[in-house]
Amino acid sequence: MIERTLVVIKPDGVQRKLVGKITARFEDIGLKIVGMKMIWLDRDFSKKHYAAHVKKPFYKYLEDFIVAGPVVAMVLEGVHAVDTVRKHTGATEPFAAAPGTIRGDYAHHSYKHSDKKKIAVKNIIHASETSADAKKEISLWFPEKELHSYKTTDENHVF
Ligand code: CDP
Ligand code: MG
Repeated sequence: MIERTLVVIKPDGVQRKLVGKITARFEDIGLKIVGMKMIWLDRDFSKKHYAAHVKKPFYKYLEDFIVAGPVVAMVLEGVHAVDTVRKHTGATEPFAAAPGTIRGDYAHHSYKHSDKKKIAVKNIIHASETSADAKKEISLWFPEKELHSYKTTDENHVF
């Protein structure tokens, strides 16, 4: 099943100049970038994107984190793109994320040790969790005209 998913390189990933490395990881898998941009979120947008978390105790720290600097958002397309990207993203808490995953390879922050949870867990990227979430998130982040359907020359080999 070919589907699309949303990845956001969070402010910590941009600040640490990991945009190229993270994007390359997804391209190396064979996923296709069909939309990409840098934006600086405001608090209203954060509440829309993280609607499922707004009432949770950690939300205020998450909002402070996600609006702290620009982020790079991309829509990736490929076979089972949602699960594939989540697998490569790794566990929410980088300390627990497996080596080989993006969070496991580029971060080790743990909220259990983050000054009594006064900051959100810094885990480099966001990735949609389910196909339904991906559809909702993509339409929130990208108007249709910013998404592109095209064929790549290697498609017969990677799909
Ligand atoms: O990003 P992921 O889907 O793995 O985790 P989530 O449970 O959907 O949480 C969204 C984001 O909130 C995480 O990626 C963390 O940045 C942050 N978070 C946190 O700071 N403290 C928690 N206890 C849980 C999540
Ligand atoms: Mg999530």
